[in-house]
Amino acid sequence: MPLSPFIFTILSLLLFLSSSSYAIRSLPTTNLWDKNRIDADDETLLSGGFPEGLPTFDEAPEYRNGAECPILVPNSIVSPQCYPGHVHIAMTLDNEYLRGSLAAVHSVLKHSSCPEDVFFHFVAAESDSDDLVALVRSTFPSLNFKVYLFRVDIVKNLISTSIRQALENPLNYARNYLADILEPCVQRVIYLDSDVIVVDDIRKLWNTSLTGSRVIGAPEYCHANFTKYFSDGFWANRSLSRVFNGRKPCYFNTGVMVMDLDRWRQGNYEKKIEGWMQLQKQRRIYELGSLPPFLLVFAGDVEPIDHRWNQHGLGGDNLVGSCRTLHPGAVSLLHWSGKGKPWVRLDARKSCPVDFLWEPYDLYRPQQQDQVVLVSLQISFPLDSSL
Ligand SMILES: *[C@@H]1O[C@H](CO)[C@@H](O)[C@H](O)[C@H]1NC(C)=O
Ligand SMILES: *[C@@H]1O[C@H](CO)[C@@H](O)[C@H](O)[C@H]1NC(C)=O
Ligand SMILES: *[C@@H]1O[C@H](CO)[C@@H](O)[C@H](O)[C@H]1NC(C)=O
Repeated sequence: MPLSPFIFTILSLLLFLSSSSYAIRSLPTTNLWDKNRIDADDETLLSGGFPEGLPTFDEAPEYRNGAECPILVPNSIVSPQCYPGHVHIAMTLDNEYLRGSLAAVHSVLKHSSCPEDVFFHFVAAESDSDDLVALVRSTFPSLNFKVYLFRVDIVKNLISTSIRQALENPLNYARNYLADILEPCVQRVIYLDSDVIVVDDIRKLWNTSLTGSRVIGAPEYCHANFTKYFSDGFWANRSLSRVFNGRKPCYFNTGVMVMDLDRWRQGNYEKKIEGWMQLQKQRRIYELGSLPPFLLVFAGDVEPIDHRWNQHGLGGDNLVGSCRTLHPGAVSLLHWSGKGKPWVRLDARKSCPVDFLWEPYDLYRPQQQDQVVLVSLQISFPLDSSL
């Protein structure tokens, strides 16, 4: 197919460390990085933190499919996020957990035998989506991904206060709406929290079969005391607690789930979850955030997945980010659920031994607090059809 000549633009953003006598300068800007943005970044560089602007990340090492991988033939009729053969992963992306999300993506790619066949569906809040797209693209130049906007107002009124403020972030509830947010052609998805590291081939998890009419699969923990996830008032009220009649409910963690989106759409599970959230608004029936409605709807009817796929609790509990050790047995996925996040503990030099397992996947590039000159260059040249 002959290419008509067009202008190919290379944008490179270089960071030079220099002596502290240099002031911060921003050179002529481009359409991708508008003036206001660069100024805003300068301010955060000066202040030494990133409360508003986005942090910077190194480009991830290149990854390639192995020879044994099936060849996915691009097809102009089907949009890329619908190719059969992809492993679909959904995650949220926001400022606060960005470092965790990118480390998780890095870990998935690193351990996949066919990394080019993984498609990421990122759900972001409206306010920061454009910058996040550019940042994911620069960190993983050949990643298959799409960023979806999550209308935070959908859930805002449904969220009630919980035991830990981070659990009230509206994006935590995006997992309830994946069947709606993702395109109908996506029939199955693996949902991953942003504080995980995958150390095995994600396709093994993808291959899980959801038997019978099961809608989700997740590791179950039947020894955990299920009673404590709901209030005494809930258990005392027969018309509420009978929701578990005929099921043997077990705790499961919603940070790693295989979800059949077709069955989810057919069964209208979004409305069922919202119904419980509405009840919680009127009368408290639980203390945690997005998890209990999932337990109410699915516990006792989830496809049990090997525990190796969610070694959770590495961040301590909801109140104290204490150090935990790995559970016995094989590990395919590490999950820093709980208050302590590995990037925070590492930065504060209060790391736990398990945090050193997370560190190799971190792509965050720490900024020098001063002494930074931000330079952006735009080079345009004609690209001939013979190139
Ligand atoms: C997943 O399932 C497919 C089809 O059954 C099989 O060919 C493939 O080897 C499996 N992959 C993994 C990593 O288990
Ligand atoms: C489970 O938790 C409930 C409520 O916290 C408590 O009353 C009950 O004794 C616990 N059961 C066991 C077996 O520990
Ligand atoms: C039990 O819960 C139902 C549904 O919310 C409510 O209508 C009913 O009044 C409750 N019963 C008691 C005794 O609190």
